Amino acid sequence: MKVLILPSKEAAILRAADIVAAQVRARSDCTLGLATGGTMLPLYAELAKRHQAGEFSMTGVTSFNLDEYVGLAADHPGSYHRYMAEALFDLTDMPIMRAHLPRGDAIDPKAEAMDYEARIAKAGGIDLQLLGIGQNGHIGFNEPTSSLGSRTRIKTLTDSTLEANRRYFDTDEEVPKYAITMGIATILEARACLLLALGESKAEAAAAMIEGPVSAMCPASALQMHAQTTVILDEAAASRLK
Ligand code: F6R
Repeated sequence: MKVLILPSKEAAILRAADIVAAQVRARSDCTLGLATGGTMLPLYAELAKRHQAGEFSMTGVTSFNLDEYVGLAADHPGSYHRYMAEALFDLTDMPIMRAHLPRGDAIDPKAEAMDYEARIAKAGGIDLQLLGIGQNGHIGFNEPTSSLGSRTRIKTLTDSTLEANRRYFDTDEEVPKYAITMGIATILEARACLLLALGESKAEAAAAMIEGPVSAMCPASALQMHAQTTVILDEAAASRLK
């Protein structure tokens, strides 16, 4: 695991964008693993800006998102399908047919999770997996106590995750309680991972991920076992490192 500490949030985002852009330029038909959440928004905005400036094309790219809420259709305003369309896909030449997310409204979510795993394998696996981190150390929606050997499946979201997601929905009742998420073992199969964590609120989770024991209590700590992982932190997110 390589850890880069950048002086500001802006510098951290630019560095992360450099890595993604380099991947797409090096292999125009690469497969990206994508994440959602607040941290990814400025990164996607920077990538869209660079794409529009002609730095790279995404026409050959295939993508697989980490997760989607169970019960939400692709056009639901709170869905990750919508998030990705608005944050990245609609702002680039990314072919929508090759942009994969788990179908939240699948009749059989369990079968959908297994099928998603098969679709990743059929595409030849993921070249570069983008990740954020939850304040409780989750990656994707692999909440604490998730098996480090887990595959794509349905997870019940913890109270702290429900609270963090509340801002995206009108009422408490609308906040989805389950998600289909890639498992930790699925994530670790990516050929490279890039985790971006910004701000003081991520400092404790970042320290547990980097310096704590590899433990299901901090799912992100599993990345210590992945040699091709780069973690990018701003100074605030790095403030609890020893
Ligand atoms: C979402 C995902 C989550 C987020 C994490 C951080 O696809 O994978 O693990 O990356 O919850 O979210 P933000 O960036 O909103 O703090």
